[in-house]
Amino acid sequence: MIKKINLMLLLAALAACNSGQEPAGDAEPAAQSAEPAAETPAGSSGSTIDPANWPAQDPVMVRDPDMERRIADLVSRMTVEEKVGQVIQADINDVTPAEVREYNLGSILNGGGSAPGGDNRTTPDKWLELADAFWDASTDTSDGGVGIPAIWGSDAVHGQSKMVGATLFPHNIGLGMANDPDLLVDIGRITALEMLTTGLDWTFAPTIAVARNDRWGRTYESYSEDPRIVAAYAPKIVEGLQGRIGTDEFLDDDHVIATAKHFVGDGGTTDGHDQGDMAGTEAELRDIHAAGYPPAIAAGVQSVMASFNSFHGKKMHGNPTMLTDVLIGRLGFDGFVVGDWNGHGQVAGCSNISCPASLNAGLDMFMAPNSWKGLYENLLEEVRSGAVSMQRLDEAVARILRVKMRIGLFEAGRPSSRKHAGDYSLLGAPAHRAVARDAVRKSLVLLKNERGLLPLSPGANVLVTGDGAHDIGKQSGGWTLSWQGTGNLREHFPNGTSIFEGIEEAVAAGGGTAVLSEDGSYDTKPDVAIVVFGEDPYAEGVGDRGHVAYDSQDGLELLTRLKAAGIPTVSVFISGRPLWVNREINASDAFVAAWLPGSEGGGIADVLIGNPDGSPRHDFTGRLSFSWPKRADQAELNVGDADYDPLFAYGYGLAYGEEASIGTLPTDPGIALGVERGAGELLKFGDPAGDWRIALRDERGEAMLDDSRGASPAGVVVAEQADREVQEDSIVVTWSGPGSVVLKGESVNLSQSANNMALEITYQVLDIENARVTVGVGAGRLDVTDRFVTEASDGWKRIVFGLSCFEGGSTPLNDVTEPLVIESTGVLQLQLTSAEIVANLGGAGCQ
Ligand code: BGC
Ligand code: BGC
Repeated sequence: MIKKINLMLLLAALAACNSGQEPAGDAEPAAQSAEPAAETPAGSSGSTIDPANWPAQDPVMVRDPDMERRIADLVSRMTVEEKVGQVIQADINDVTPAEVREYNLGSILNGGGSAPGGDNRTTPDKWLELADAFWDASTDTSDGGVGIPAIWGSDAVHGQSKMVGATLFPHNIGLGMANDPDLLVDIGRITALEMLTTGLDWTFAPTIAVARNDRWGRTYESYSEDPRIVAAYAPKIVEGLQGRIGTDEFLDDDHVIATAKHFVGDGGTTDGHDQGDMAGTEAELRDIHAAGYPPAIAAGVQSVMASFNSFHGKKMHGNPTMLTDVLIGRLGFDGFVVGDWNGHGQVAGCSNISCPASLNAGLDMFMAPNSWKGLYENLLEEVRSGAVSMQRLDEAVARILRVKMRIGLFEAGRPSSRKHAGDYSLLGAPAHRAVARDAVRKSLVLLKNERGLLPLSPGANVLVTGDGAHDIGKQSGGWTLSWQGTGNLREHFPNGTSIFEGIEEAVAAGGGTAVLSEDGSYDTKPDVAIVVFGEDPYAEGVGDRGHVAYDSQDGLELLTRLKAAGIPTVSVFISGRPLWVNREINASDAFVAAWLPGSEGGGIADVLIGNPDGSPRHDFTGRLSFSWPKRADQAELNVGDADYDPLFAYGYGLAYGEEASIGTLPTDPGIALGVERGAGELLKFGDPAGDWRIALRDERGEAMLDDSRGASPAGVVVAEQADREVQEDSIVVTWSGPGSVVLKGESVNLSQSANNMALEITYQVLDIENARVTVGVGAGRLDVTDRFVTEASDGWKRIVFGLSCFEGGSTPLNDVTEPLVIESTGVLQLQLTSAEIVANLGGAGCQ
């Protein structure tokens, strides 16, 4: 049966393709953005930006005349090649130290999925070693160049979250619940120290987005839907990371460079689409989404990252009004503007390898992870032709050099020689973990506590169940070791504590017992069950959803079963956003929203398990910084809304001793749940039986494959079920002449996903003769003939192509009814097990 063919399609929203290369076949060059045509005409309802409407803030950074002379001198001695290199940042997965030396690149980054040796779980000394290698390369003057040290940017977004053993703090959403700005200073300070152990200079944090639609996959990176909390937090985290402005500690060797991101409007896109369009008013952009910028800038933040999103159709990466007139002219920013991952390629008229418009708009450094070489060559040309003026290039270079000088990079010496370098005892140091554990306690929000079930007695016999009970990866969410936060095992958190381990420790001390049972079974009936469940990790658009219902049945099933057995139930819900969980709340006697607590799961037991006398050890002090939905369609639910109708309002959260019986909640989600699909949403199709069907085509037409065997109308393409590892887990397709096999169904919009997703196919070529073969998504095609010829009879292979390889002017991906097409002109036999549209973790390109 077709049902068994594992043609998984995970269609989601977003990512980076390697489109330095051109797609073969009839697709146009990649990286055309799916940008709405033009800006709304001036004068209409606040959709144009007038810098005069923005707060005027005096620059806080005083420019030092000696430093300015030094910058001017350096710039005057740099060749145009060196200047162009200085404004480009490449990813360590796609650039070598030798290339950094040759191209004089100003910066490198490790993207969420990049790490030394391609190993996300490698040891800290490998990071430090690589930092030294890039330092040596960038400062090498043997070619007669000026040798400017490269600066290394990394997403240390909830602690140094790329490093095994580091202290992982709750993601921003949990910190917002704590409503404790001073906590952020400590978190920033610790993050900086842990980064410095491996020679890293610069974090792409804080995210100061104000998420207003919780369908957005980055909601958890936002402190609050309320701009007031974000504005209060932004300067504090900047202070922690960079040191306090106006004091000696500012940018000293205990601190790193911070990045306020993503400027601006990222949390305000239509339907919460990651990288989408913000269609609100200028006033909303300013008062809600930009609220964190003036205070972050006043705290001296040295870099700002341009956002992927557009405002009324105009991408921020190409918006001079915002990047220059507002950010610098009004808000007084005096650091440098870095782009986001090939974000320049989405500007109208640009590609990943060419975008003078971005630099001209005010971007100072291109984040060109895998496209840096093409970008370098084109930018050089563009400067020579005058498409970018030398003056603008000099200014961008000067802005970067100024920040490098302020942090003391020129004098810092090799990374391994710096303060804290190699002191890996700082990673997960007890004092750091204590701060994180405190943050976890403060982030918890108690939504329900019938008959005062919590706190639990430390003498109780507790069953701990649910797939989040003993999974530090799950409790840490995305941006944890790997980009999506997936694939992490217990051993990857040597210093962490799972939620179960914390409970076990607390009850062991009080004479009780804790039994871990992921499936909820038990030998001895427990006094109480704690069920830990919720969202699995995701990052960026991969986490975009069509609605805000929690639609896995796992927690509900456990809760219902335990409740039926007469066992009191406590839910600990792990999630990156408030979700509709009425059924789960009904099945729980107590319900705790735990967000994404990070490595210190012990903080949960600190609050849930009390003293032997029944008093709490720690109270619940977390209060909702995001409104909690009453129905699954309430994704855009924010305090202050005209028809505000939440289940739990902004600011809600029970303390111990507070009476609040919430009764039985309605279980109608308000919308049809189930498989999500639609324009630009995260769409998951685990099985073609549900939505997708397989068609076999030849010159006579098309036949649907609805059985375990089938053929195209003229019999040229024949498909049948076969066994790979288990019974009928694959399909063999045999071409005797021109024809194709096609996966088809209702239209989906993949244009938002093009940059961040990839097509992945697992197959083996059993035979190929005189055939030209292409693989396609929608109307885009890539030629795979040479590859298939080489791979013939050589076993199982996997292809990963960035989705944007299939996108072009004449082949947009906004209306795709055929997400997979394999076409051959001659004899071909393929065995396929899976085809999937996945997060482009490895930055796959077009070959
Ligand atoms: C990188 C991430 C990046 C994403 C693109 C991934 O391959 O690892 O850091 O954010 O692509 O959007
Ligand atoms: C994300 C940024 C991140 C960058 C580098 C992008 O895709 O939007 O937040 O800093 O990748 O990993």
